[in-house]
Amino acid sequence: MLKEKMNDFINKEILDYVESFSQKEPSLLKELNRETNLKVLNPRMLSGAYQGRILSMISKLIKPKNVLEIGTYTGYSAICISEGLDLNGVIHTIDKNEELFNIQRKYFDKTNNGKVFLQYTGNAIDIIPTINVKFDLVFIDADKENYLNYLRLVIDKLNTNGIIITDNVLWSGKILKKPNEEDIATKILIEFNDFINNHVKLETIILPIRDGISISRKN
Ligand SMILES: C[S@@+](CC[C@H](N)C(=O)[O-])C[C@H]1O[C@@H](n2cnc3c(N)ncnc32)[C@H](O)[C@@H]1O
Repeated sequence: MLKEKMNDFINKEILDYVESFSQKEPSLLKELNRETNLKVLNPRMLSGAYQGRILSMISKLIKPKNVLEIGTYTGYSAICISEGLDLNGVIHTIDKNEELFNIQRKYFDKTNNGKVFLQYTGNAIDIIPTINVKFDLVFIDADKENYLNYLRLVIDKLNTNGIIITDNVLWSGKILKKPNEEDIATKILIEFNDFINNHVKLETIILPIRDGISISRKN
């Protein structure tokens, strides 16, 4: 999802206020943000400063031991989430784009805690079943067409009280209207929001920030 479209839901002045009175982006993440914008295709895919601070805060509240991230991109959100890891915690992060591996590793190592980031390159659909770990936190932020597949793959791998954070669930508001036949991403997101909200083992709330982030807790 293009992150520039994410601010449509909140008045710009309010959003500026919210961001200026929220925690600032740490310098390492500023550097990664800059390098991604200069050198990597589709830099708007990166979680911005504000969303990154939200991910960091949620992670610090949960103190997860095992995290799964679906959609690493250049590693920005993984680093944000890593800020809240429990002692000996790790984050398993998957991306299908092998060209991103080196920039991810470069910044993971710059955190001085590089060993907590376990990188996987390939299709998340194939990789998730091979990770034999129960997770405390899952962040879904890859191809929208597979969101339901990801959810089905991770539910049984989530610990009780485990949290799933899902990005782009409002999809620039497109979820409000019946999608065209060929608009598979919107169709899947509508089904995803319905499925996760009605799942007997999950409690879900959608936060209307940026492009919509949902937080689901497993009973
Ligand atoms: C929106 S970006 C992730 C942004 C990152 N979480 C952040 O906030 O900085 C989505 C990423 O998902 C990856 N991706 C898309 N489809 C995938 C798949 N089937 N398996 C693994 N990764 C995939 C893309 O290569 C891209 O890097």
